[in-house]
Amino acid sequence: MKHLIANWKMNFVNLDAWLKDFDLNNISEEIQVVICPNYLDIKDFYKTTLKTHQQISIGAQNLSSETEGAFTCQISGKMLKNIGVSYSIVGHSESRLQGEDDETILNKLQTAFHCDLIPILCIGEDQHEYSKGRTEKKIKHQLTENLFPLQNLSNNILIAYEPIYAIGSGIAVQNEHLEEVSLLIKDLVRENLGTDFTLIYGGSVNSESAKNLAKVDGIDGFLVGNASLDPKEFANIALSLEQ
Ligand code: PGA
Repeated sequence: MKHLIANWKMNFVNLDAWLKDFDLNNISEEIQVVICPNYLDIKDFYKTTLKTHQQISIGAQNLSSETEGAFTCQISGKMLKNIGVSYSIVGHSESRLQGEDDETILNKLQTAFHCDLIPILCIGEDQHEYSKGRTEKKIKHQLTENLFPLQNLSNNILIAYEPIYAIGSGIAVQNEHLEEVSLLIKDLVRENLGTDFTLIYGGSVNSESAKNLAKVDGIDGFLVGNASLDPKEFANIALSLEQ
């Protein structure tokens, strides 16, 4: 099963118009489509897709590391689960930029499992780390801090490799780099956790770059920001995953 995930971030999307133009008929049932709208639209989107697009699952763009209580402005995993959410992005670089630290991300993963949500853990180096040849060090650090303390993991998890310099830049990474990092992540997770997981890529995926990126062994899907706002473009990315 491959995953195609839309992260709509803080963008306005007309749900009905988007769904009308997103033609699921042409998309293989082997592809799990997940849409992550803003929190306020989740309920409406869930109700609509239940009627018309049952193959689409709903994801949240983040969740609280706490389960309940006096945490102003936070949304818990349980609340998300109650309104139809099945997945949650955890540790997106745009959330890390706002002060989310490694310990919080670890707690968020734990909370996601506890609430029966499938987490999509985002990891990746920035431009400076890349140019200094520190990609491996950064990936190891993030996996060690964010994921490996969760031993005996039996739940589903997706890991999204998202190099920060590729996000929103219009330039996806080269396949050689993606291949190397994908092998690195697979080896590290196998050695440290021994669990199965799905590895996906994110960062300037569009219908053009997807054709090439989909050829990389071990990449089983995409996390798509900007290009997912256009339903036709998003559907074309799905076609690349069927190659
Ligand atoms: P992008 O965003 O596709 O616009 O580069 C990807 C992401 O932030 O997950």
